[in-house]
Order: sequence, then structure tokens, then C-alpha cells
Amino acid sequence: MPTAVESDLTLLVRQLRWESEGVVSVVLENADGSALPAWEPGAHVDLHLPGSIVRQYSLCGSPDRSGQWRVGVLREESGRGGSAAVHEKVRPGTVIAARGPRNNFVLRPSAAYVFIAGGIGITPILSMVAAADAAGAQWSLLYGGRTRPSMAFIDELAAYGDRVLIHPQDELGLLPLGEVLRDPRPGTLVYCCGPEPLLRAAEEATAAWPAGSLVVERFVPLPVDPAVSANDTMFTVEAAASGVTVAVPAGTTIVKALEAVGIFPPVSCEEGICGTCETTVLGGIPDHRDSLLSEAEQAEGKTMMICVGRSRGDRLVLDL
Ligand code: FES
Repeated sequence: MPTAVESDLTLLVRQLRWESEGVVSVVLENADGSALPAWEPGAHVDLHLPGSIVRQYSLCGSPDRSGQWRVGVLREESGRGGSAAVHEKVRPGTVIAARGPRNNFVLRPSAAYVFIAGGIGITPILSMVAAADAAGAQWSLLYGGRTRPSMAFIDELAAYGDRVLIHPQDELGLLPLGEVLRDPRPGTLVYCCGPEPLLRAAEEATAAWPAGSLVVERFVPLPVDPAVSANDTMFTVEAAASGVTVAVPAGTTIVKALEAVGIFPPVSCEEGICGTCETTVLGGIPDHRDSLLSEAEQAEGKTMMICVGRSRGDRLVLDL
């Protein structure tokens, strides 16, 4: 379940630094000079980038440094413009509106962890390994990337010695997940962040582990079966607190239907991955299509992401 203690902020870019080929880190401060909100490992922040682009980035600095946040941004040539905006338009002195922090990838207390990161998925893992190490937990990190020069923050991770296994694909092949995760270890939590094939491989490799052992964070939404969307039908949503009922036709999201009648829930990614639009369900059964809630949370149906979710029945009642 995501945790949210969010603020609207105006941030000042203090510093940019190349962390590897294609990855720049951005150090941010509160523009008014005051301390930034507290955060825990796994948290992200929404940045409102030049060009009216909103993107989520994991905080990858130290939570102890209340005066500064750091994010790492990979330039994605085939991306939708967020990473290009950071690389091309953000410079020291740039002022950026932001909202957060929000944590959908909470580091649960444990005596032992296996961390697995692929590519830019190292960013949330960085602060997790620091926290696990500071807590005296037993931990290891398997960190894969395309090539060694493309892998960010390797210099920082060198301080942890052989607890960190750097695994460039061009030198060593794919990450040996089957080997690392072969034997289920009750009491050990596995945290994984990276591209979808890595997350799927981690899910397969931990299939025999105790339920809940694997915790993943997705940067891109899980695909929705086109056959499912093709059968979408209209339903109604009652926004209980507003006293408004609205129809949500096929091809429209709950958020868009609400906006059309003047109700503007908070949204950010609009892809079901960030948690900003999470809404309490008071009645009806949601048809979850997010990539965020666990299977158990979706089955419970207490909350839903209204930017992508629909209704299994004719009517939903939401706490809006
Ligand atoms: Fe991001 Fe809905 S706006 S999950």
C-alpha cells in the first residue's frame, strides 16, 4: 500500500553530475532555503519539468540530508520527453515545481535482504542498501546493466565491497537470478527494480519463496490485454463527498469523467504506476488495472487507482 505524506514544493536545481553514460544526477533544494520533507528509502517525487511534463523520479540521496534531494535520470532516446527535458533544459539554477515525496516501494524491516537492480532501477535501491547496511541487516546487491560505463553510481557502491555484485551484460551475460534466488529463504526479503523482463524473471525465480518475499517497483505500466479493453462498458461513479454521480463510458477514465463535471482529483502519471490518484472505494467492486497495488490489495478492493481502474459492476461509490 503506498504511503503518502505529500507537499507541493518549489525546488531549485543546485547541481548536475554525470553518473555514467546517459545518466545524470540532479541535486535539488527547497527554493526558499528551508528543509525538505522527510522521506524513506523507496520514495519518489513528481517533478514538473519544462514543457509541462510531469515525471516521477526515485529519491536516491541520503534521507539524513534534509536540505537536499537527489534523483538520477537516464536519457531515454525513445522516451516521451521527460528525460530529454532534464538532460537538455534543466541546469543549476532552474526552478522546478514538485510534489511529494510518496513511497510505493516501502523497505519493510527485515534481518536479511537480496536487492536486485537493472539499469536505472538502481536509484531506489541505492538508499535501500544504505538503510539495510546502517540497520546491521544481512544484505547483498546484484546490479546489472548493459555495459559497465552505462551503470550509474558504481563508484558509490564500491564502498560496500563484495556485498555488491556488478554484472554488466556485455561482459557477463544476463543476471544469474536462478542461481541467486534458487533456494527460498524464509525471513529474507527480495527487492527488485528495473526493466519489465527483469521483474518478470524475479517473479519467476521467487515463485517458490514465501508469499510477499518479493517486492518490485515498476517504472512502466503492465500492459492491459486489448481484448479486455475492447469489452469495456459504461458504468456510473458516485463521488460521495461531492454528491455528484457521473457516467464513465468505455474509452474514458474515471478521472476524465470526473474532471468533465468539475471534480479534479490529484493525478500525476495517469498510467497506474505512481499512486497519486489512489482513492478509497466505499461501494462496488473495482476493476483494477494499475501496476502498483499487490494482488492481495486489489482483491481487498479498499482503494483503487482511478486514472486506469474501472468497475466490475454498474456502479462504484468513491470517497471523493
Ligand atoms: Fe499515477 Fe493514477 S495518477 S497512479
